[in-house]
Amino acid sequence: MHVFVTGGTGQTGPAIVTELVGSGHQVTGLARSDASAARLEALGATPLRGSLEDTDVLASGASEADGVVHMANGGDFSDPASMTRREVTAINALGEALVRTGRPFLSTSGTLVLPAGRVSAEGDAPDPRSIGSLRIPGEQACLGFAEQGVRAVVVRLAPTVHGPRDHGFIPLLIARARATGVSAYVGDGANRWPAVHRLDAADLYRLALEKAPAGHVVHGVGESAVPFRSIAEKIGDELGLPVRSVSAEDAGEHFGNPIMAVVSAPTHLPPATTHGSCSTGRRTTPPCSTTSERATTSTPDPDQRARHVQPRCRPPTGLAELSRRGPGRPELLRLYRQIGNIIRSRQQAEGWGGGPG
Ligand SMILES: NC(=O)c1ccc[n+]([C@@H]2O[C@H](COP(=O)([O-])OP(=O)(O)OC[C@H]3O[C@@H](n4cnc5c(N)ncnc54)[C@H](OP(=O)(O)O)[C@@H]3O)[C@@H](O)[C@H]2O)c1
Repeated sequence: MHVFVTGGTGQTGPAIVTELVGSGHQVTGLARSDASAARLEALGATPLRGSLEDTDVLASGASEADGVVHMANGGDFSDPASMTRREVTAINALGEALVRTGRPFLSTSGTLVLPAGRVSAEGDAPDPRSIGSLRIPGEQACLGFAEQGVRAVVVRLAPTVHGPRDHGFIPLLIARARATGVSAYVGDGANRWPAVHRLDAADLYRLALEKAPAGHVVHGVGESAVPFRSIAEKIGDELGLPVRSVSAEDAGEHFGNPIMAVVSAPTHLPPATTHGSCSTGRRTTPPCSTTSERATTSTPDPDQRARHVQPRCRPPTGLAELSRRGPGRPELLRLYRQIGNIIRSRQQAEGWGGGPG
């Protein structure tokens, strides 16, 4: 299959390009800079110059391919509405080029669109109050093409995609532990994160591209319930730092980042399970309780779901209250603005940033 890939040069994208090329597919990748074009060529793909804003390029890349994998995402968190608009515009440009072709169109979202505090399955509706809610319009735009003769599929990645070039939540936790001298968890740290290795995510994208039915949502989750405390313990272990609990009220200050504080806080506290190190053969994963080797669905065990429903939160105030009930829309926009400002000031201080656009 000839596949048009956007975001093939990010953290997860190169694993997907490599997986597709290695499985005999031909890949054309969107490249918005010389460096990105060179990276794609090194991976065995053909670059197509353009950015997410070039809807004509997106449309021509999609119409000349037998299938599309849309991974690219970026922009200014301090203007979340424009990020969402931009994402929907790009998805519409890609999807419209595939109408009535029956071709596969995979678009990327995240499991952070789901309600916090309970086990979620792929059939669950996204929660407009969730921290990832800015991805919901993109999901809906993609899935809308399932009714127009496109094999449209949404892939929701776990908030932690581990592997080389990880620049997500775990590196932020590590950086914070180094800066503060403490590896922290919030409350009793029994809240859980899903995670996936990028190679497992790559397998999932290829399988979904080849086989997933139109209108399906698949979860890129390899480790479905990693207790936050075990992540903090592993970081403390590796860095030789003490591991401590911080209160939800102090989490914002400790993590130095409002989004980080919200996603780290025990929205609801399921019972803790065993902590230990999990190895999945070709990759080592963070300490976790239960794990499956492959990135597949996160369909819950019904007994587990029953065990997880009872929240055990402390009396909430401020951030603790926010993390208990989930942020509302205005609070969410304020959080995104704050994180946008943090990212901008780090960019200025450290002299880094994305490519053009
Ligand atoms: N990594 C995670 O932990 C994680 C978790 C959940 C969901 N996701 C989602 O998975 C997808 C891939 O994430 P990632 O972490 O692998 O990506 P990433 O490392 O953040 O890289 C972003 C990718 O998008 C491209 N891109 C950004 N803005 C663009 C623009 N205006 N025009 C063209 N290309 C543009 C970048 O191209 P350049 O190389 O040219 O900069 C790069 O290939 C995203 O949708 C992300 O939200 C990721």
